[in-house]
Amino acid sequence: MTQQADVIVLFGGTGDLSRRMLLPSLYFLDADGFLPDGFRLLATARSELTREGFVEQVRETLAARPEGLDPAVWARFAERIDYVMADATTPEGAQALKVALEGRRPIYYLAISPSLYAKVAVALAGAGLAHDESRIVLEKPIGRDLETSRQINTAIGRVFDESQVFRIDHYLGKETVQNLIALRFANTLFEPLWNNLTIDHVQITVAETEGVGDRWPYYDEYGALRDMLQNHMLQLLCLVAMEPPSDMEPDSVRNEKVKVLRSLRRFTRADAQGSSIRGQYGDGMVAGKTAAAYEAERGQATGTETFVALRADIDNWRWAGVPFFLRTGKRLPERRTQIAIQFKAVPHSIFGAASTQDLAANRLVIDLQPDEDIALTLMNKAPGISQGGMRLQSLPLSLSLLKAYSGPNSRRRIAYERLLLDVINGDTTLFVRRDEVEEAWRWVDGVADAWAEAGLTPKPYPAGSWGPSGAFGLIERFGRTWLD
Ligand code: BG6
Repeated sequence: MTQQADVIVLFGGTGDLSRRMLLPSLYFLDADGFLPDGFRLLATARSELTREGFVEQVRETLAARPEGLDPAVWARFAERIDYVMADATTPEGAQALKVALEGRRPIYYLAISPSLYAKVAVALAGAGLAHDESRIVLEKPIGRDLETSRQINTAIGRVFDESQVFRIDHYLGKETVQNLIALRFANTLFEPLWNNLTIDHVQITVAETEGVGDRWPYYDEYGALRDMLQNHMLQLLCLVAMEPPSDMEPDSVRNEKVKVLRSLRRFTRADAQGSSIRGQYGDGMVAGKTAAAYEAERGQATGTETFVALRADIDNWRWAGVPFFLRTGKRLPERRTQIAIQFKAVPHSIFGAASTQDLAANRLVIDLQPDEDIALTLMNKAPGISQGGMRLQSLPLSLSLLKAYSGPNSRRRIAYERLLLDVINGDTTLFVRRDEVEEAWRWVDGVADAWAEAGLTPKPYPAGSWGPSGAFGLIERFGRTWLD
């Protein structure tokens, strides 16, 4: 059995990700008794702060959350915290951490810019801190393309073995994303239908109402393709499309995901024109409030897309001929993360003309955000009598996950809680392996190259709309419509 880690070192401990996600997640794990006895939290950053000053910052951050602070849990959690002011990219910085880490099994969580990953790894190795009992967690983006992601992975690989590297895609920590695995492989019902004989197409939508705001210095270099599609959306696609793994061992699952990524059909210049669209939000209204254009946030005109929709094809026996339509964007009318599996229509209607018009093909809709639900639409006889035979209606058979998850003791977990617990326990199943990241980049590089060749620039869309009109044209060209 893998040993549990006994200290987490948060690089970038005073940063945004630590404040919003990592510290609250660790606090909640502590509240629920998941942190091992003696587990320590060592935050490090360049900010000049005392331990007491940092602990007070953490207290304020946690107290400002809607869940509030439980005094007993806080007392226990605060005890675990240390703070070391250091520049972790330097030998002196790594030495400063060494005293606190002697004889320990550390997790190094790099909540810092990826441009610093290699330097921190080298400094840790130089101080003898990158030993067999350590683990390292890397946040996305790992690179900006295949080449730069290889450089980072190679630099990390010189210091840490792949089994010690945990590449986070926080979507894999979401309850409903894991539920996809349960839905597919803990039921006999779906597997015989999960193929091109029965499924017409798949839609994956990740819509956000938020804009880019002051994150533009990062975002402007990446855009929606690299920020969302390369990682979160391709992970969702992999979980929908992968073959059944033989068990839940980390490599069994990851092997299947890599096979899907390798089967993605390479984008051509013609696909760029006919099977994809880029967009950028202009001024508009979102949820009744005026929203500024990306260009205004950015301060100048830029060719970065804040919206992308495309058709992906998986060239294997199971999925040949089944298009996967992916769509993501910022400043859309609602927050929605959803996977829709659209089944084919019945081969022949036995009903009269009027009822045949009512017929809708079955659809399995998996809502991940903001509400979690899984619903299968089934055709049903409309109640009552009518002239000219029975009428039909489509009704959802819903798992009502919202209700199932809203008991008195339930709380919607932050995706990072599950993932941090897995790192503590050394379970890499929900983390992305090096070859997965690189295969995803290989395909995304193909899309970016095809866009460049075709000269495809982002089309404007008003904030608060569902993207450029071309996004509708794209799916309609293939005889389907978005599920809005
Ligand atoms: C991040 C992206 O990885 O995911 C952000 O960098 C995006 O741009 C975020 O807003 C979305 O995550 P979630 O969990 O809010 O859907």
